[in-house]
Amino acid sequence: MSGSGYDISSDATVIKLHGTAAVLPGGHLAIGGVDVVELAREFGTPLWVLDEAHFRENCRAFRRAFCPERFPAGAEVVYAGKALLTRAVCRLVALEGLSLDVVSGGELWTALGAGVPPDRIYFHGNNKTEEELKLALRAGVGRVVVDSLDELELLTALAEQAGAGRPGGNRRVGVLLRVTPGVEVATHDHIRTGQVGSKFGLDLGSEQALEAVRRCLDQPGLELRGLHCHLGSQVREVHPYAEAAEVLLELAAASREATGWTPDELSLGGGFAVRYRVADEPVPAVEDYAEAIARVVTRVAAQLRLPVPKVLVEPGRAIAATAGWTLYTVGVVKEVPGIATYVAVDGGMADNPRPALYGARYEAALASRVSSPPDGVFTVVGRCCETGDILVRDVSLPKPVRGDVLVVSCTGAYNFSMASNYNRLPRPAMVLVCDGRAELVVRRQTYADLDAFEELPDRLKGLEDP
Ligand code: LLP
Repeated sequence: MSGSGYDISSDATVIKLHGTAAVLPGGHLAIGGVDVVELAREFGTPLWVLDEAHFRENCRAFRRAFCPERFPAGAEVVYAGKALLTRAVCRLVALEGLSLDVVSGGELWTALGAGVPPDRIYFHGNNKTEEELKLALRAGVGRVVVDSLDELELLTALAEQAGAGRPGGNRRVGVLLRVTPGVEVATHDHIRTGQVGSKFGLDLGSEQALEAVRRCLDQPGLELRGLHCHLGSQVREVHPYAEAAEVLLELAAASREATGWTPDELSLGGGFAVRYRVADEPVPAVEDYAEAIARVVTRVAAQLRLPVPKVLVEPGRAIAATAGWTLYTVGVVKEVPGIATYVAVDGGMADNPRPALYGARYEAALASRVSSPPDGVFTVVGRCCETGDILVRDVSLPKPVRGDVLVVSCTGAYNFSMASNYNRLPRPAMVLVCDGRAELVVRRQTYADLDAFEELPDRLKGLEDP
């Protein structure tokens, strides 16, 4: 078996073997010690495969990087559930000692149902509904990350209704204020969030952020714990985090001036980049991000004579992406002479919309012939009725034939969570693999599931028009 981190590269075939992925002597791909061709046979395709050991190792890498030695005032790793959230994932995250960022009542519900301690939950979102906030307050979430003055008003009223902070009443609601730091990052436009004018966060220039600090401190039901920002996703450089930390600390100094308050906690959000393909530029190590953040926080806090705050980060992609794989079965192989040879699989943009949405690039291999030399360059397409449903462009493979299992790597983040039933395709199943064992954690949808939420009005039940 070839070990983890091993890149198989012959003339043109290259696939990055993350985590426990390895090649068995017969040329089959194994993940978590399980032959994935067997997995496809047993659970069907498309199938999401989650490498438990690798997911957990990614959690540990963050905890090691954001350790007390580097962050004497403390550090906390908050997994961003939007990347991939199931009940099993919640358990893994909690077992690894990470906190959890949720952005909706649905994510909150799943987290609570899976037994994530409420005080380890951070509730995000630019437009949380009243119902969702009530659920969060009832559950006693650790922090509500407030995104606007409007939301602050609503939260204040709800905290008051709930008797938060009253003698003998509920405890105060922990709050972080999300600000827009005005730091631009080089990533896809759709996943940049920290720039001035973004729909997320409190504006700094117009002093909305300072106003929010003032109003928050006035509320007996709220406990203002710190400041938050998020720059965007797939941020391939470390310096934007340092710049953002500096901006937040400057706001902290301005807050002290205006109100006497200084933050205990500083959250720099998520966005840590992942190297999806061997052909991609390397990305910084988690340690590099952590070191840059630690240095700037210590230096700037000292310059501004602020107490050094605890630092929080919210990685989603960097924990989930490389731990996930998608298995498909090859159907039609169609050559368009002089143009391309299309290899159509039984999934597509319904289970992975990222290539169509962001032009995301992936690697693919034939699961039963991972290290065989390629026969040519192929275009892997999905089965959805969209020209843009192209999963992997220009991939070198041994000639695929109907029935082959095709595997796409690095699909752990923003695949399951962004999947749809487009074309009324049932959503795939997910299995957790570890130490030679495969366990179903999400069952495959059935055709009956597709109808399960629908009602047919009586007047449409007859076949004749009334
Ligand atoms: N914290 C906040 C407040 C966020 O909005 C996000 C992601 C994260 C943390 C986690 O970011 P990560 O570490 O995963 O980059 N659907 C897009 C990504 C959208 C990210 C949204 N917010 C994609 O598939 O690339």
